[in-house]
Amino acid sequence: MKIAVLPGDGIGTEIVEQAVRVLNALDLKLEMETALVGGAAYDAHGHPLPEATLKLAKEADAVLFGAVGDWKYDKLDRPLRPEQAILGLRKNLGLFANFRPAICYEQLVGASSLKPELVAGLDILIIRELTGDIYFGQPRGRRVSPDGHFPGAEEAFDTMRYTRPEIERIARVAFEAARKRNKRVTSVDKANVLETFQLWKDVVTEIGKEYPDVELDHMYVDNAAMQLVKAPKKFDVVVTGNMFGDILSDAAAMLTGSIGMLPSASLNSSNQGLYEPSHGSAPDIAGKGVANPLATILSAAMMLRFSLNQAAAADRIEAAVQKVLAQGLRTPDIHSEGTTKVGTREMGDAVLKALG
Ligand code: IPM
Ligand code: MN
Repeated sequence: MKIAVLPGDGIGTEIVEQAVRVLNALDLKLEMETALVGGAAYDAHGHPLPEATLKLAKEADAVLFGAVGDWKYDKLDRPLRPEQAILGLRKNLGLFANFRPAICYEQLVGASSLKPELVAGLDILIIRELTGDIYFGQPRGRRVSPDGHFPGAEEAFDTMRYTRPEIERIARVAFEAARKRNKRVTSVDKANVLETFQLWKDVVTEIGKEYPDVELDHMYVDNAAMQLVKAPKKFDVVVTGNMFGDILSDAAAMLTGSIGMLPSASLNSSNQGLYEPSHGSAPDIAGKGVANPLATILSAAMMLRFSLNQAAAADRIEAAVQKVLAQGLRTPDIHSEGTTKVGTREMGDAVLKALG
């Protein structure tokens, strides 16, 4: 089993280091190879996703990814910015299905910005389409405006588009996932305004007929944003496009009080996957040894389960994480009165110990 390890920028290196320690402790035959990505790759090779890194990722069974980005790259041309590395990996590996669970761990109920009763027991799964939509739609660019309110003015444009097969396959992923959970899918769209999302809604409805055991409902994205903060526990699986999924998954993550706890998986049709924490590179705390490595450690568990067929090992990691939380160990992002504040490495140590 080959794993491409791409730590990236900021806290990426620190948190991935802890996840790699955990993986190494499992006595599995894992072959791990590390490469530069994001700003770190730009600094060394002049490109955020060098050929060698992409090749390594393509040839691996799974990619363990840290985070990319730093303000210092904000002035670079778009194709050279660190974010292009993750977009390029998604596109080149065909990672169309993004799983973003938002689980409120019992021990962290108090850390949420919502009232405890609204989030206690929260367990929702956002499934975000990841290789289409306005993120990748062509044409895009800048030009002199040919029409509209200010003809002749400077203008920028992007294109929102989805093909039927792209919607069909992500819908199936959502229904299959719901079958293993509470058998409810909420498809989020903006069909009242956008053609793209009228097609989305029509296709999801059709695919839903193949899954009579799963209850399907549709929600406009603005209402979904409202319902997420009003009654988040009403959701089970949420399926949506790339852009809406980006926004809603950040909102959902915050409900759990701990974006530093949430893993994610991005899969292609052969179950090759990229696994990364749901949070970013946090340049403000990089190098300080205080970042929470648990989202990355839990991403490694998802990797074992989804791409490497090692469910038992994944269970062991997840149980170990529960155990350290129960012991009251907390990195500063989730630290509160009555718990013990630890750093990144100490958290890694504790998980290793809890693995037994
Ligand atoms: C995410 C991030 C990325 C996205 C950025 C870094 C390109 O926000 O993974 O959610 O917008 O998809
Ligand atoms: Mn995002």
